[in-house]
Amino acid sequence: MKTNKPDTSSGTNNRFPWDNFDPEKYRETNYKQLRGDDAQILGRGANWFSQIALWRYSEGKGQFSHGIDVGPGSNLYPTLSMLGYCRKITLFEYGAANVEYLRGEVKHLSDSWKPFWEIVAPFVGNRDFEWARRTLRKRATVVQGDIFKDLPKGEFDIGTMHFVAESLTADPREVRYGVRNFTNSLVRESPFVMANVQGSTGYFVGDQWFPAAPVTPTDVEWMLDLLAAHKKVEHIDIDGPSVHLNSEGKPEEDYEGYVVSMGLSF
Ligand SMILES: C[S@@+](CC[C@H](N)C(=O)[O-])C[C@H]1O[C@@H](n2cnc3c(N)ncnc32)[C@H](O)[C@@H]1O
Repeated sequence: MKTNKPDTSSGTNNRFPWDNFDPEKYRETNYKQLRGDDAQILGRGANWFSQIALWRYSEGKGQFSHGIDVGPGSNLYPTLSMLGYCRKITLFEYGAANVEYLRGEVKHLSDSWKPFWEIVAPFVGNRDFEWARRTLRKRATVVQGDIFKDLPKGEFDIGTMHFVAESLTADPREVRYGVRNFTNSLVRESPFVMANVQGSTGYFVGDQWFPAAPVTPTDVEWMLDLLAAHKKVEHIDIDGPSVHLNSEGKPEEDYEGYVVSMGLSF
């Protein structure tokens, strides 16, 4: 039974047991099947990366050297959206159980990611799922670290961060620090895609409550004004049953959709 929903207005990142974030339960609710809203977010991200990659190739520059996905949890689709373009990818995750889960997926990507790959594939020469599985094993490394302390500066040249900055704290300052540390980890003018849950105050993963800070597309625009040389911020409607479950395990629409941002870092 879910009993530990705290005061939703307070809660900094370090007050929550991230090592107990259950990757299987989270995947079951969010990514067991491809949802319409995730298809929209992934399609926009893959399209953005493909545009910038084509421009790079036309300038005589090769592949991106090092991509990063910050806070993958048990979501592999941000990583898949970069896979065709980079020589290596770091999956930078904080929670111990998530780190273990991700290491398993890097060794052998589960079949459930196939419909997600099918959205990316047309942008990268229609390579098949076996190619994605093999290439992920070769190029990806999982690193355990804290977004507030351990992200290097100016290291990566392509990056993603989905449902992390606003979904790891209830403190709006920490949301801003998270987004800043993500964009600062990128080399100047690197393409990034970020997704945020709009209007969420927190969520259960199994019986464990985790915090969120409600953000709007305008909040995200303002944060990126200071951090991105170019940006496009869009609202995405919920398309599918809510991914937030109430104390009876029933979907609860207590958030307002999603915000997806495509940009180039300063
Ligand atoms: C809502 S989940 C998002 C997971 C995934 N990116 C997705 O698209 O569904 C939030 C993630 O942030 C991670 N996280 C929490 N605190 C963190 C920190 N201090 N540094 C890095 N990641 C953190 C959690 O472990 C979890 O994987």
